Amino acid sequence: MRVLVIGSGAREHALVSALADDPAVEAVVCAPGNAGIAARAQVLPVDAASGDAVVGLARDTAADLVVVGPEVPLVLGVADAVRAAGIACFGPSAAAARIEGSKAFAKDVMAAAGVRTARAESVDNAGDLDAALGRFGPTWVVKDDGLAAGKGVVVTADLEEARAHAAAVLDGGHPVLLESFLSGPEVSLFCLVHGRTVVPLLPAQDHKRAGDGDAGPNTGGMGAYAPLPWLPQEMTDRIVDEVVAPVAAEMADRGCPYTGLLYAGLAIDSEGPAVVEFNCRFGDPETQAILPLLRTPLGAVLAAAADGTLAGLPPLEWRAGAAVTVVLAAQNYPAIPRTGDVISGAGLADGPDGTAVLHAGTARGEDGRLVSAGGRVLNVTGTGDDLAQARAAAYARLAQINLPGAHHRTDIGLAAEQGRISV
Ligand code: GLY
Repeated sequence: MRVLVIGSGAREHALVSALADDPAVEAVVCAPGNAGIAARAQVLPVDAASGDAVVGLARDTAADLVVVGPEVPLVLGVADAVRAAGIACFGPSAAAARIEGSKAFAKDVMAAAGVRTARAESVDNAGDLDAALGRFGPTWVVKDDGLAAGKGVVVTADLEEARAHAAAVLDGGHPVLLESFLSGPEVSLFCLVHGRTVVPLLPAQDHKRAGDGDAGPNTGGMGAYAPLPWLPQEMTDRIVDEVVAPVAAEMADRGCPYTGLLYAGLAIDSEGPAVVEFNCRFGDPETQAILPLLRTPLGAVLAAAADGTLAGLPPLEWRAGAAVTVVLAAQNYPAIPRTGDVISGAGLADGPDGTAVLHAGTARGEDGRLVSAGGRVLNVTGTGDDLAQARAAAYARLAQINLPGAHHRTDIGLAAEQGRISV
């Protein structure tokens, strides 16, 4: 099998690495890729948002399967174009990708499927904002009702901060979504879905705030760990049975059946799981912590979801233990990051088994040196028999990487390791 992966972040680096390690995968090509992915796969340029361009590249590279990583190409219909060209594609149609691209669509599907989620109101003009804010609180959840890579969300107990973010989103030309605050620890459960068939991966937890102790602004994700020692298997089963399967069935009933990875972001409270958001693709950085634990070769898994044979796939096999991914971010991220800094250090060379450095925002400078080229620059993953070992492995390797001005969280997975999370 020859696979073309679309995307350029650490998530795609993790996908490419797992596919390249699969003996049944003869070749992996990634487009547009990044400087780190180039070490594991042929990297070619592409306009990832253009269905025609992706189809052309899939033909040129004789791809049997196209895996679309990010949400934007999916929302724009790249998977439809690939399938229309007769090539298998892991990723939902544009109609199904509305589960992430349109929060109103997602809420409608959840209401019809009887799935618990936050109460929400969309506001599209500044004149309605204050009255709407008055119907929420004491914690306000203010979202950009468009694709904003996680950074469009502000969760705050400060009404002025909520109002300012909402006004900025409206000024940017997007509606604002106000939501009631869901309390309880958050879980990311990624499910392979084809139509009504749902196969969950290991649950993971993202750390969305920039600073230790969940301080600071929201980001695209500063680190993740898997699995979740505090989440009983019955809760994962409930998430599949009460959330993901009903949503998949509702989408099939509406004529937009889902194919690919359906990401359920949830809060777990005393009543059980409630949906914070759905995404139409692998999550970032959770994928970088989940895939190292997957023992089943990835190629056949993605192909089964793409070609409709998911129900016949043998149960997924997982390695025992845990994985932790820590994001190394550029100076000033999540605001406009400084780029062009040289990345160096022994940690970039092949590291000890069970650790990996995945590239997110990197490039080669004119002199061939590795430089930062985005807000989230590198992801360092460690694995181990338990969270403590996995954390130690990740942070030991991260300590051997230099990026001027960089910052990272020091507490990824720490609360779970210390038993401070319960449901
Ligand atoms: N982990 C957050 C996201 O992928 O959107």
